[in-house]
Amino acid sequence: MSPAHPTLYSPLDLGPVTIANRFAVPAMVTRLSGDDGHVTDQIVERYRRFAEGGAGMIVVEASSIHGGRSGPLLKASDDEFIGGLSRIPAAVHAAGPAKVFLQIIHFLKVARSGWRQTIADLRIDELEALPGLFAAAARRAEQAGFDGVEVHMAHAYTLSSMLSRMNRRNDRYGRSLENRMRLPTMAFTEVRQAVSDRFAVGLRFDAEECIRHGYSVGESSEFAVRFAELGAAYVSLSAGGKFEDAQHREGKPLYPYTGYSGDRCMPGDTYPDAANLWMADHVRGELRRRGHTTPVLGAGKIGTADLAERVLADGRCDIVGMARALLADPYLPAKVAAGRGAEVVRCIYCNVCKSLDENFKTVVCYLWPRGSTQAPTPDEQAAADIAWATDATPTVVLEPGAIRLRWPRPNGPVAGYDILRSEDDGPFERRLACTREAQLDDLVVAGRQYRYRIVPYDAAGRRGTPSEIVDASI
Ligand SMILES: Cc1cc2nc3c(=O)[nH]c(=O)nc-3n(C[C@H](O)[C@H](O)[C@H](O)COP(=O)(O)O)c2cc1C
Repeated sequence: MSPAHPTLYSPLDLGPVTIANRFAVPAMVTRLSGDDGHVTDQIVERYRRFAEGGAGMIVVEASSIHGGRSGPLLKASDDEFIGGLSRIPAAVHAAGPAKVFLQIIHFLKVARSGWRQTIADLRIDELEALPGLFAAAARRAEQAGFDGVEVHMAHAYTLSSMLSRMNRRNDRYGRSLENRMRLPTMAFTEVRQAVSDRFAVGLRFDAEECIRHGYSVGESSEFAVRFAELGAAYVSLSAGGKFEDAQHREGKPLYPYTGYSGDRCMPGDTYPDAANLWMADHVRGELRRRGHTTPVLGAGKIGTADLAERVLADGRCDIVGMARALLADPYLPAKVAAGRGAEVVRCIYCNVCKSLDENFKTVVCYLWPRGSTQAPTPDEQAAADIAWATDATPTVVLEPGAIRLRWPRPNGPVAGYDILRSEDDGPFERRLACTREAQLDDLVVAGRQYRYRIVPYDAAGRRGTPSEIVDASI
């Protein structure tokens, strides 16, 4: 496929299922279902585009295994949902090579007052009913034509709360590591037994909780080994996203991604690339040291094929989860494979998608054309000519400790800008991105010489010519 990315475009077995490449769309709630939890045309189209874009693995958004109220969230809690759910694998399989998994979730109640139900409130019989609910949802997913399920044990939800070091239950489901793993182990085992051998069962949990007194990679490596022993098709590692440090906003249900652990879960623009990969690296190392070959999916600001290839080639993970990057441009895998990587619309990690999710609004990308509910396809727009006027050199305004750049809007259908920066005559690298004609660079220090140029692009990712170069120092 792409000569520069041999590992990224190589196949991999996830138990009984083979994925054609290592690009994965991790689960991302779309808020495109109605409150009734049924699949809609827009949901089918969202996943069809991911498949057409060339990802090897698609994990469909968290889908509830029980009837609890949740706002717009898919449901797999009853046989009545099988027909609707079956539209997703049908569309995905027809559009590309992707294998498609359904993420299945159990969550507890949250109220607008800030109150939330916790695992401490659940009776033993309520807890012990959960593995059966997960198993029934997995069976429905297989009937609907999915290639596998992903049992959701990450973030703030019920199974994650069982694994958590904050699980202070005084019975056989709390406190000790073995007790905390007991219910998730039961759930995984019942799911595995409920489906056929041709159906893959993977799971996702936090490699680190990212809260005070939470667990880190020492314990999550033990989770990984346990699920490897039980035959997990893959282990997907996330981080944080907990209720414990969430900020309550007046009149809104608590959203578990509003504190520091939420930042770690969906690291924004100030975080480094591959911000959480050290965790996957550690857990994978422990698995391999103990003789398990279970594939590990790492995620968290891995936004380009070059970076994905590097982390795979270095053996830090086996599958690269790109959630926001593939939301921004689902066609990234196909564009790179076709040698058109320069046309990728690159995520700016602004987290507008996250705040839409928080507010139960349709999750879209800030970089898409205004009003769209789907990413543009590469051929949706006629080839766009973007041309700078002759006197269009960007200007620089010095602010205390920062450099503000401004530039005139070029002619043509501009969707956004990459801002390239060179430091002390080094190469130009993409430093920032934005959708308006101004941007502040505050990662600057005195005594260095910076040079900038602006590269505009259209909604399908086609780049215009770079602007003239402008020099600046503080
Ligand atoms: C809008 C949105 C919705 C998400 N929904 C889910 C979800 O349903 N289940 C899940 O495990 N993770 C969910 N995540 C987390 C992502 O799967 C992913 O782990 C995270 O965004 C970090 O990866 P990235 O840097 O590639 O975006 C969501 C993330 C976003 C931005």
